[in-house]
Amino acid sequence: MEDLPSKHNFEEVIKRRGTDAKKHNVYPEDIIPMGIAETDFKCPQPIIDAMVNRAEHGIYGYPLNSTSFNQAVIKWQGERFEWEIEEEWVEFAPAIVTALVTAIQAFTHPGDKVVIQTPVYHPFHSIVTNNGRIKAVNQLILKDGKYLIDFEDLEYRLKDPRTKLMLLCNPHNPVGRVYTREELLKIGELCLKHNVIVASDEIHSDLVYSGHKHIPFPTLSEELQQISLVFINPSKTFNLAGLRTAAVITPNRFLRETYRERVLSNRVDGRTVFGTLPFEIAYNECGYYADQIVEYLEQNVNYLLKYFEEKIPAIKVIQPEATYLIWLDCRDLRMTQEALNRFMLEQAKLGLNDGILFGEEGRGFMRMNIGCRRAVLEDALQRIENAVNELS
Ligand SMILES: Cc1ncc(COP(=O)(O)O)c(C=O)c1O
Repeated sequence: MEDLPSKHNFEEVIKRRGTDAKKHNVYPEDIIPMGIAETDFKCPQPIIDAMVNRAEHGIYGYPLNSTSFNQAVIKWQGERFEWEIEEEWVEFAPAIVTALVTAIQAFTHPGDKVVIQTPVYHPFHSIVTNNGRIKAVNQLILKDGKYLIDFEDLEYRLKDPRTKLMLLCNPHNPVGRVYTREELLKIGELCLKHNVIVASDEIHSDLVYSGHKHIPFPTLSEELQQISLVFINPSKTFNLAGLRTAAVITPNRFLRETYRERVLSNRVDGRTVFGTLPFEIAYNECGYYADQIVEYLEQNVNYLLKYFEEKIPAIKVIQPEATYLIWLDCRDLRMTQEALNRFMLEQAKLGLNDGILFGEEGRGFMRMNIGCRRAVLEDALQRIENAVNELS
């Protein structure tokens, strides 16, 4: 008889305060932390068991760079996204942001331009400018509650001869878009035309809601496979961010070798015993968890959408197509950004992310992380409702 698939308990109450959790410990006890992009769920049991077992061995010397790491990526991408990957395309990285920095250094020179689509995950801004490159900002357009790409402006940015690289965030943090095949093809067509390499950060690709489909960028066409790199990390799905282990997938040999040269010169190739092990188990054994977390989160999203619509209409929710990061349009509250931040923290007692962190387009917005138990979400929404009602 086959084993029944494991069932993860996303309702388990787990105390995180006092466990050196940045997400929780930056706030006093009376604030619900809904900022930093990680869930409050325990990771899959097979990972915990394997880590405990490995810990008991008691010797933690330098680990081998085993190809089982590459094989885990091949299995996951093949089974979940129908992407057939070859072993040599996969490279370890300590984290996606580190890998994106490596890509910026490998494929651009100081003074070159790098396209980002704003509002966007805040390190996309700083890793460009901190490395002496220039941001070429393609603002997303908010139309009827949905963020769309301004392709005319995108082409204007890409055709600048100083533009060498585009950092794509798909699914997009914080606006929750899962770009369609048509949109991705159009981005690809423009990047091909203007000789721009695409670095596609797909960290949120497992957390996609009904009616949407994640398409790994290089699978769009043979030509686009030759100009792109994909960055993945099981951390968002399985709550492993503190273990610092990600992967970069690069089908094109020239890009791969250029990227790898920079990895070696920066010496960012060292793996860790407790990073590689959970990474591989997540991708090899924990598909059940990825399915169940999406189901749980989707119920959280639906609950939240209905709640805001019925009880807090002054705040508009940008409906997420993926991720547990919710982009709240608070502009109708007519507060300065400083007042909005204070309002959420001091009146609603919630630790949210300031929208401006993601770019100037985030003025009037806040980002809310709902990777938590339903009861916590209910409490948080009630707090916002009460605080908004007190305003009038
Ligand atoms: C789009 C995006 N990329 C990368 C990261 C961070 O990944 P890593 O910890 O591997 O650098 C995050 C975390 O929130 C993210 O949202």
